[in-house]
Amino acid sequence: VAVIGYGVIGRRVASGLRAQPDMEPAGVVVRGAGPPAIAVALRGHSLFGSDGRACDELARAGLECAGDTDDLLARSGAVVDCGPSRTAEARLDAYRAAEIPVALGGGEPADLAEATVCSSANYDDARGRSVVRVASCNVTGLVRLLAPLQRHFGVRGAGAALIRCAADPNKGSKGVVDGVELRTARSHHAEDVRRIIPGIDLHTQALSVPMTQGHVAMMTIELSREVALDDLVDLYSSTPRVLLDWRESDSTGAAGARAARAGRERGDWPEVLLYARSLATRRARLHLTAAIHMESIVIPDTIDCVRAMVDPGSDAAASLRTTDQALGLANPAWRYESDSLSPT
Ligand SMILES: NC(=O)c1ccc[n+]([C@@H]2O[C@H](COP(=O)([O-])OP(=O)(O)OC[C@H]3O[C@@H](n4cnc5c(N)ncnc54)[C@H](OP(=O)(O)O)[C@@H]3O)[C@@H](O)[C@H]2O)c1
Repeated sequence: VAVIGYGVIGRRVASGLRAQPDMEPAGVVVRGAGPPAIAVALRGHSLFGSDGRACDELARAGLECAGDTDDLLARSGAVVDCGPSRTAEARLDAYRAAEIPVALGGGEPADLAEATVCSSANYDDARGRSVVRVASCNVTGLVRLLAPLQRHFGVRGAGAALIRCAADPNKGSKGVVDGVELRTARSHHAEDVRRIIPGIDLHTQALSVPMTQGHVAMMTIELSREVALDDLVDLYSSTPRVLLDWRESDSTGAAGARAARAGRERGDWPEVLLYARSLATRRARLHLTAAIHMESIVIPDTIDCVRAMVDPGSDAAASLRTTDQALGLANPAWRYESDSLSPT
């Protein structure tokens, strides 16, 4: 699998692919001889330049360059485009010419792709496709929380308030340094969730605050019937890629520190972190609070997406399990059942 770009997502996709039993990163494309190129080489990935100029720059810096983008595509069975948001369109012709499927990032416009996918809900939509967009971090978090509710109890309507990091740790120039950046209209997230869970009645609002360690989602969900709290706890405890946490207080920074202490590379936590004590019901209404590590949450879904595109006959539940085990995420309580994956 070719990896284009070695930023926040690219470096995680490359190491995630390497961990899989049935995939290999064929190489990583960079644009020049900066720190990402050195990191690619140190990690033992094959290094490619985006074009001839980049290849020359790599060679001048003493880095072994295995070729340009076309050379990498020629030796790959699929490609994951990890370039900055809204830049992939310029590279699509090269992917089409190479006749290999591409997984795009969630920052790309939805209409560039045949489907937007969060694999634990709509793996099927990626099967055999040529261009699939992997849902963005917040959308992935919302879908992981809503899809099992929709499947098991039905969702009448929902609202989510997203408190978003102003920037990733590597994108300080993007962020507000003081105050809250408000978007007064509804946010785009609900529309994307509906691409994955068709027809769901969801309203999302988002604001950005000066932090970089993870987003927070506070949700109110109207279920189709009254559900006991214990049943909700049981459901989420067994839902892959949802980590139920019982502590009374937390911070997104502490979540990363815990992950790092547990041996997770870069302190990543690709599960959506659902605070069990936030679960509160009143008749059919459910409230919850969850945290989302934007830098890593989409990595398992991206890997599943590649598998579904390359192997249309693959089993969704088996793919999720394989991905999670290889990434060191598998939780013994999670139930990987094909019939619980597609929301009704
Ligand atoms: N970051 C997140 O939290 C997050 C979460 C979910 C989804 N996403 C989505 O994932 C995608 C990637 O985001 P990101 O945050 O990883 O971006 P990023 O950190 O800005 O990294 C993008 C990388 O792509 C490189 N690049 C640009 N054009 C290239 C080309 N033609 N060939 C090879 N490399 C190229 C950039 O190199 P230079 O350094 O030389 O510019 C940079 O290293 C976006 O669609 C984004 O919306 C991001």
